[in-house]
Amino acid sequence: MLTVAVLISGAGSNLRALLEAASVPDYPARIVAVGADREAAGFAHAEEFGIPTFLVPFRQFGSREEWGRELGVQLAAWEPDLVVLSGMMRLLPADLVERWAPRIINTHPAYLPEFPGAHGVRDALAAGVTQTGASVIVVDHGVDSGPILAQERVPVLPGDDEASLHERIKPVERRLLIDVVRRIATGDIDLAATADAASN
Ligand code: GRF
Repeated sequence: MLTVAVLISGAGSNLRALLEAASVPDYPARIVAVGADREAAGFAHAEEFGIPTFLVPFRQFGSREEWGRELGVQLAAWEPDLVVLSGMMRLLPADLVERWAPRIINTHPAYLPEFPGAHGVRDALAAGVTQTGASVIVVDHGVDSGPILAQERVPVLPGDDEASLHERIKPVERRLLIDVVRRIATGDIDLAATADAASN
């Protein structure tokens, strides 16, 4: 059974989908803890499913590195096999990424490498594209630049605004995330091999 820690910053709707998937007995992964960099509304989902939470408030630390060190201590206490960034809106410091790589993955509301960064949905709309997408990637030292594990196109419809487009992308992100975590758990995705292939 693959053990998973999830890091969030916001509503945690993707977290909730993973919690629901992981509560089905056949699903080969279990969420062991949910962490956040702020008082995230998504903690309520973890609590509902009886999953422990931990808060490492970014603003209480003098630097990203100090914050990352404490986050690393909290994460390590749960000894997860995999760390999932699910709407965690902070860049992790390099040594934390190094510590978990390649067992750390992220979801992104765009078809990477198109529209990386914090405003993937807004940037796609601003660019006037007719389709964008959702991606699940391995986290590396760049911004949304790691190897792509799964991705799918989502159309941009006339009249879409950032909220409506994001709400259409999120169900795709959830489906991809649930599938990728399952495939990592079953060995169908080999993260080490994926990362090695990307670095060669
Ligand atoms: C997702 O689209 C994620 O990729 C993005 O923020 C959203 C998280 O939403 N970075 P939620 O917190 O899971 O509802």
